[in-house]
Formats: sequence, C-alpha cells, structure tokens
Amino acid sequence: MKYGYFDSINKEYVITKPNTPSAWVNYLGSPEYGAIISNNATGYSFAKSGAKGRIIRHRFNTLSNDAPGRYIYIKDNSSGEYWSGSWAPCCKNTEKYKSECRHGTGYTVISSEYNGISTKTEYFVPLEKEYEIWQCTVKNETETEKNISVFGVCEFVNHNSALDDQIDLQCSLFLTRTKFSGNFIHQMHNYYDKNDPKERFFGLADADVSAYCGDRDSFLGEYRSYANPKGVEQGLNGNLNFNMNSCGALQSDIILQPGQAKVFTFVLGQQIEENAKKILDRYKNSSVAKEELNQLKSVWHKRFEGLTVETPDEDFNNMVNVWNAYNCYMTFIWSRAASFVYCGLRNGFGYRDTVQDIQGIIHLTPELARERIEFMLSAQTVKGAGLPLVKFNHKAGFENTPDEASYVEETGHPSYRADDALWLFPTVYKYVCESGNIEFLDKQILFADKNITASVYDHLKKAIEFSVSKLGKNGLPVNILTDWNDSFKLGENGESSFVAFQLIYGAKLMLEFAKQKNDTEYIKYLENLIKDITEKTNIFWDTDRYARGVHEDGRIIGKRSDKEASMWLNPQSWAVISGCADKFKAKKAMDSVERELATEYGAQLMAPCYHGIYGENNGSWYNVCTKENGGIFSQPQGWLILAETMLGNGNRAYKYWKSACPAAYNERAEQRVLEPYVHGQFIEGSESPFAGRAHVHWLTGTASTVMVSSVEGVLGIKPTINGLVIDPCVPNSWNRFKINKVFRNKKLFISVENPNGVQHGVKEIFVNGKKINGNVIEEKMLKSENEVLIKM
Ligand code: GLC
Repeated sequence: MKYGYFDSINKEYVITKPNTPSAWVNYLGSPEYGAIISNNATGYSFAKSGAKGRIIRHRFNTLSNDAPGRYIYIKDNSSGEYWSGSWAPCCKNTEKYKSECRHGTGYTVISSEYNGISTKTEYFVPLEKEYEIWQCTVKNETETEKNISVFGVCEFVNHNSALDDQIDLQCSLFLTRTKFSGNFIHQMHNYYDKNDPKERFFGLADADVSAYCGDRDSFLGEYRSYANPKGVEQGLNGNLNFNMNSCGALQSDIILQPGQAKVFTFVLGQQIEENAKKILDRYKNSSVAKEELNQLKSVWHKRFEGLTVETPDEDFNNMVNVWNAYNCYMTFIWSRAASFVYCGLRNGFGYRDTVQDIQGIIHLTPELARERIEFMLSAQTVKGAGLPLVKFNHKAGFENTPDEASYVEETGHPSYRADDALWLFPTVYKYVCESGNIEFLDKQILFADKNITASVYDHLKKAIEFSVSKLGKNGLPVNILTDWNDSFKLGENGESSFVAFQLIYGAKLMLEFAKQKNDTEYIKYLENLIKDITEKTNIFWDTDRYARGVHEDGRIIGKRSDKEASMWLNPQSWAVISGCADKFKAKKAMDSVERELATEYGAQLMAPCYHGIYGENNGSWYNVCTKENGGIFSQPQGWLILAETMLGNGNRAYKYWKSACPAAYNERAEQRVLEPYVHGQFIEGSESPFAGRAHVHWLTGTASTVMVSSVEGVLGIKPTINGLVIDPCVPNSWNRFKINKVFRNKKLFISVENPNGVQHGVKEIFVNGKKINGNVIEEKMLKSENEVLIKM
C-alpha cells in the first residue's frame, strides 16, 4: 500500500494517508535545539542533549493513542465537535477528515480539512535559534461564519534527564510548577542557571489567549487521553501544576468570517521567563516566522547543491539529490542520540559510527566534514585507538580512556575496539581528495588523553601502529572486544578478517599520503605491511569465500562446510574493497554472495543464521534473520554495491542498490513499515515471518555507506589527490544521465552517454569541448563553470 509520494520540486515527502504503518518522522533543529516530529505531530524536543536536555516528553514503546506531541486542536463552538490539526490523536473518520503531512528539510507541515475549517501547521526550529515554532493558519472554507476555539498543547517533562523523567518519579514529580504569564505557560524549576536553564515555556505570540491550563492531568481528565481531552471538550480550566505533571495548553477563541484565515504562532522552548517573553515578542508579527522558515529552506536546499543527478531512475534521483543526503546530514548531526528507537541515552558519539557518518556529507560540504574529522582525531588516544564513545562534552587532552575504570563506568565501554580508528583512513582520504586540501595532513591536533598534539598524518600513523600492536597468532589483527559487528565475539585474541581487510585498505590510502610527503622509509614500511597482511589473509580463503575470522580457540568461523554461519557478507565485499582479493577470488566470493545471501530485500549479513542458544558455538541472542544474526543489515549493502561496481558489475550493483533503496518500497510501504524516504538499521531476512520488514529508522551508518556507493560506485565520481575521476558503473539500461557536481568550488555539468548500453568503462572524456588524455580531470583544467562529456 502507498501512503505518500516524493515531491522532488519542493524536496518534500508528502504523506497523504495518515495511518502510516509506524510513526514516519522528521528531524527539526540543530545540535543546540533538536526536535523529532512524526506525521501525526508526536515526538519530543531537547536542548543540546537528547539524554540530558529534554523539554517535551515522549513515552518510548508508546501506543499511538497515548503519544504526547505537538498538538493543535480545533473546536467548533456551535456544535461542540472537536478534532486535531494532525489526524491523530483524534483520528476522525478519513472519509470526512482530509489531511496531508509534508516532511521537508528541517521543517514539517501538517494540514487538515474538516467541517469546513482548514488548518496548516508549519513546525520548525529557526536557524541558529534555541526554540521551536508551530505556526498554524486556520481558515474558514465555508460561506457561513464560524465560531471556533484553537488549542495548542504540549506535555513538558519534569526532569531534563530522559531517564529520570520516566522512572525516578519519587523525585522528578516534585520539581516543577507552572505559571501563566500573559500569553505563555511557564514551567518553573527550582534549579536556576541562566546559562543552562531547566525552565520551559509554551506561548502564543500573535493571537489572544482566551484560556489556559498548565496541569496535564486536569487537561486530559480522568481515564481519558489526547484523543478526547476534557480541556478541549469543556474549555481550558485555568488549572496550574504544583508537583505531578505539567503541560502547556493555550486556547484562543475566534470568530472566522467566510473565507477568513487567522495565523496562530505557538513557540516552545527551554528558557527563563524573561527570555521567553522576549522571544514571544519577536513573533508578534506573524510574517517574522514565515520569513525565518523561508531562510531555513534555502539554507538546507543549498546544502544539496554539491551534487545532483538526473538519471532514468526516479528513486535514485530522489535518494541521491535529497533524501539519502538529508539522512546523511541527520546521522552526521545526531549520531545515534535521538529517535523513536534511540532514546537519547547514548550521551556521545560512537567512534566508528561517527567517523563513517562523516563520509556521507564530504561530497556536499567538505569543510563541515573537516571540523568533525578534527574533532574525531582529537578523540584518538596516544596509543592510536579511538575512544569507543566520545562524550558530547569531550575535552581533548584531558579524557580518560578504556584503560581506566572511570571511563568504563561512565560510558559502559569496557575496552577499545579493533576497528574504530581504522575508519579514519577512508574518511580523511575522501576529505583531502574532495577539497584538495593536502596541507590538512600537517594540521596539529590534540590527542584525547594527553595534552600533546601531532599532525593529522602522525595521528593516522598511530592508528596503524595500534592495529599492528594487536596482531594475533596468525599475524592478523585481533578482534579485541568486537570489530564492526557489535555482537560478534572471537575472544580477545581471535583474529578478524574484516579488520585485516580494513587495515590493508587503510595502509593503501596512507601509502598515497606517504608518497605525497616523500616519506620514503614509511613507504617501504607500508608496502611490506600490505604485502605481509595480504598474504596472511589467505588463511581465511576457503574455495569460494573468505571466512569471518579465527576464534582464539583456533576454530575458523565462516567455513564453507559449517552448518551455520558458513557464508558472511562483509569479508567478501571488503576483500574486494581492500583490493586484497585477486580477480579469481573476487569473482568467486561475490558470486557466492549472490547465490547464498541475496534476497529480494538485499543481502543477509550471513547465512544460515544461528538457531541455537547464544554462547554455544558463537550463536546469537537475536532471533533468526534479525539484526546481526543473518538479518539484512542495511549498512553493509553499501559496501556490497561498492564492491560490485569496483568489479565493473553495473547490473548487479544496481540490483543491490534497488533492494536497499527505501523509496523502492513506496508502493508496498506496509511491508517495510519504516519511512520510505530514509534508511533503517536492518531488514528481516528470509526465515522471518515478516521478511522485508525494516527496523530502527533514520540513525544508521547505512545512510553514508549507500551514499558513498551511489556516488563513488554507481555514478563513479571519485575525487583523487590529483583531480576528479569519473568512472560510472551503471545498469546497462541507463543510456544517458546527467550529474551536476561542485568540485573544489568549480561547477561541473556532466553528461554521460552510454549508447551501447555497457555497464562500465569510459571511452572518452571531453572537458569544455576538449578531449583529455587519461581519466583524471585535473583542477587546473577547470574554469568556474564547465561542460563535461563522458562517453562510455
Ligand atoms: C549498529 C552500531 C554500529 C555497528 C553495527 C553492527 O549499527 O551502531 O556501530 O557497527 O550495529 O553491529
């Protein structure tokens, strides 16, 4: 079933059927003020931290009729009938109630029409502001006068800590009280700090408040819910909260003449009373918020201009031009901190996740990426390892590490992980090549745990040093606690093929940097290392596949003859990406993936899944074909697509791309359940009774891996130190397509012609009408605007 469509002109996803199979959400705001909003206006807000800065409440694992949100209610005072500006919570019969939700870039617009009254509520966080706006335009669409009341309602938290607010009720219920202050409800808190206020407000800036309520339970009434609140049915009663739970509920009574519209600008935030007043004054004139929304849209749309495509596949265009890109920015901004699944308690950046997330935005905004790269390098210890969790208030030079009990206790991470710092290589490499800023390698950056600096280049050397200091019995990198796979245990000294391939790949990228620096001794060292580790990985090769690792007890995991887990996805794709597999092995390995792992929804992480009990023979505690136990883990689909393009298999790469593409499930969205415009963490595999159902929306490394594979793999846009290589690998049905790309501040309008329908291979490249030698478009060949013709 279809619930909506992509509006590529406005860069919006439009939900036309409100009873979506799960809450389909959007993100508003910035790291200073974040907000999550669903197509039915449920969701929560927080200042700075999802864990510690909660403003309005969300009950996790909530039932849809018990979800607090950003609600607008309309009541027709002549009949007493009321409904909500979003379909839920009142859930009027959709035969009569019309609604539409437009999720855009940093804003959401929810419209409704019922009983001759239309509403259109624009939700957004203005740029660089620390509060949110819900601007609702209510219009009388009939020929007769309407006497109505408009309500805006939110449920404040009591405690800024998400966890304490939900469970430490003996304390949290007794911290706050509300007050009415002219045009806003102010939730006071006995904790006062001007710079970090815990006080919250909800106000109406440009209309009169006729009645208010600051006490949640008297707003809802006994044994009721947001679907039928007493406060709307009977009018707000002026009650305020002292102890227990507060809310912000404001009512504005108005007569609307035929065709007349009135704007109601509600503002919500975490501010002391004095500041709340000033903020509300700013929005007295309704056009101020309108202007701010336009600015927000144009800033967001500009962020996508770094790369846009026009291919024969609309899904590809929608994802690459807007939704996958937007998804990448969101993982970049929010890491895994806050969604309807991540409850915000991970109070920091996971090292591997974040370093990979950066890759998804480098081709669009390299300088934004650089700032975060520097931050992540400053979270590398002098040993060369990454801190598994980098706190939001990370203080480079002064951090504890997993070697210290205090870090372990605070973060819950008992040790380093084998792969964390190795992700730096492709990320730094992509940034340097995209920007041309080779001097970046000389930039001095602090280490996490010692107040000393080293150049980026030396930080990278340290990362190699760390891996090389942790080699096992077979001379291959040990798994320590885990590698990329959080639930895969080989014992501390077991050796991981994935990490071995990562090390080889990292060393190869580093070799390019070392050559730039004429670092002759290190070049020799790296060449030997690459040769040595590559040879040693042969112990993993078994007929037509690479194994996943060697357990510290000597067992090889992922042998062809194993009854379970005999075939793993990542070792095959990474053997190709790292260039470790020769032509013969690469072909065999990738054919095995197609034969044994591919499903119509993507390739499973491994097969057959573990059916036994966790702990026995490396089983898994997850259900079969779920998550790391042979689920179709979404992030590795990006590596799979990339590997196939590296082998020139455009048709196969595209087939995998399409299976992993959320938009491709738009017409059968009830099966995928998650939003058709963003990636999720995994999809249930073939043995699940719900094969094809996706989970853990939005915040996933999938955004960046699929983006990288779409751009570098399928489109073949590959920045190198010397210039731009364009080497598409596409389905042979693509006869022509266009790419607009900004490269080192120069605009390239690229047309690709593929008259013979090949999958791969560039015959000729013309830059501004001139045929070039070789396949690298050097920066010096470029003017500020350039026509590029590629003939395949
Ligand atoms: C989750 C984690 C990520 C990990 C992956 C596989 O996506 O966020 O760090 O690599 O699972 O276990």
